Amino acid sequence: MRAVFITRRGGPEVLEVREVPDPVPGPGQVRIDVRAAGLNFADVMARMGLYPDAPKIPAVVGFEVAGEVDAVGAGVTAPAPGARVLAGVRFGGHAGKVVVPADHAIPMPVEMTFEQGAALSVNYLTAYHSLFRIGRLSRGQAVLVHRAAGGVGIAALQLCRTVPGVTVFGTASAAKHAVLREEGCQHPIDYRNRDYEAEVRQLTGGRGVDLVLDALGGADWKKGYRLLRPGGMLVTYGFANLATGPRRSLLVAARQLLSVPRFSPITLMEDNRGVAGVNLGHLWDEPEMLKAHLEALLGLFREGKIRPRVDSTFRFEEAGRAHQRLQGRESVGKVLLVP
Ligand SMILES: NC(=O)c1ccc[n+]([C@@H]2O[C@H](COP(=O)([O-])OP(=O)(O)OC[C@H]3O[C@@H](n4cnc5c(N)ncnc54)[C@H](OP(=O)(O)O)[C@@H]3O)[C@@H](O)[C@H]2O)c1
Repeated sequence: MRAVFITRRGGPEVLEVREVPDPVPGPGQVRIDVRAAGLNFADVMARMGLYPDAPKIPAVVGFEVAGEVDAVGAGVTAPAPGARVLAGVRFGGHAGKVVVPADHAIPMPVEMTFEQGAALSVNYLTAYHSLFRIGRLSRGQAVLVHRAAGGVGIAALQLCRTVPGVTVFGTASAAKHAVLREEGCQHPIDYRNRDYEAEVRQLTGGRGVDLVLDALGGADWKKGYRLLRPGGMLVTYGFANLATGPRRSLLVAARQLLSVPRFSPITLMEDNRGVAGVNLGHLWDEPEMLKAHLEALLGLFREGKIRPRVDSTFRFEEAGRAHQRLQGRESVGKVLLVP
C-alpha cells in the first residue's frame, strides 16, 4: 500500500508518498481499505515538529479514515468485509489501508459519502465534546467560536444550531464570512483586522458570552477569559498561534508560551468563571464516552442537522498542497486526502 510519510521536520515539501507492506489484521481487528482520510491541523503541527504526541519521524500521521472493510482477523463477526465504515485512528490514517479494533470501525449511514465519513470523527467529536460535555451548552446562551470557518469551527456552528436560541459569534478571515452566516453564525468577526474582544463586548452590550471555544491560544486565552459572563467557560483545545509560518520558529514559540495566562483557583472562584481543556487524543482510553458522542453525531447526521462541509480533496501525491491549503488559511471546512 502507499502512505504519506513525514520524512523530516519542516515545510510541506518534507511529505513523501512511500510504498510499504499492507498491514495484516490480528485477532479482533479489521482492515479498512481507505477511500478518504481527514487532514487535521495537528497533522500540520506534527510535520512542523510542534505536536508533542506525534510519532517519531519518519512517520505516517492522520487521525481518521472512511472506507470499506477488506479483511478481518480471527474472531471478528462484524463488521464484515465490504462494510462501509469510518474510524478514528491514533496516527497512521494517511495510508491506503489501516487496521483497527473491530469495534472502532463504525458503520456509516447509507446516505453518508466516504468524504463526509472522513470529515466527521475528529472535527465533530471535538466540537461536540467541547460544547456539550464540557460546555453544557443550553438554550439561549451565547458562544464565541474561533477559527469558525475551519473543520472544527463549522462543526461547532452546526452543533450550536441544534440548541434553540443560541447566539454565535465566530472569528474568521473576512472572505469566509458568507459561509459562516450560512452555517448559522449570526456575528462573523474579522479578527485579523478588528479587535474581536471589543466587538463581542459591544455586540453583547458589555455582557460577553457563556462559552468560548479557543484553538488560537496564548494571549487569545486571556481575551477569551475576559469575555466570559459569570458561570461562563473558556474551552482550550489548540494552539495555532505557535504556527505562524511553514516551519517551526523557536522565537515565536517562546513568545507565545510566555503569553499563556496562568489561572489560579482563587481567581476562578472570585470571577465565577471556568477554564477547561480538550484533547481528543488523550480520550483514547475512554471509548464509551467517545462512542456515545459519535452515536449522537450519527443521529444528528441522519436527521439532517449536521453535514460535514468538505473544502477540498487531494490525492496522496498532492499532500503538500493539502497541508498548504489548511495552513495557508485558504480552506473552508474539511481538507481530505484520497489514496
Ligand atoms: N484538542 C483536540 O482534541 C483537537 C481536536 C481537533 C482539532 N483541534 C485543534 O482545533 C483547531 C482546528 O483544527 P482544524 O483541523 O479544524 O483546523 P482549521 O480550523 O480548519 O484550520 C485552518 C484555519 O485556521 C485558521 N487559523 C488561525 N490561526 C492560524 C494559523 N496560525 N495558521 C493557520 N491557520 C490559522 C485559519 O482560518 P481563519 O484565518 O479564517 O481564522 C485557517 O483557515 C486546531 O488548532 C487543532 O489543533 C484540537
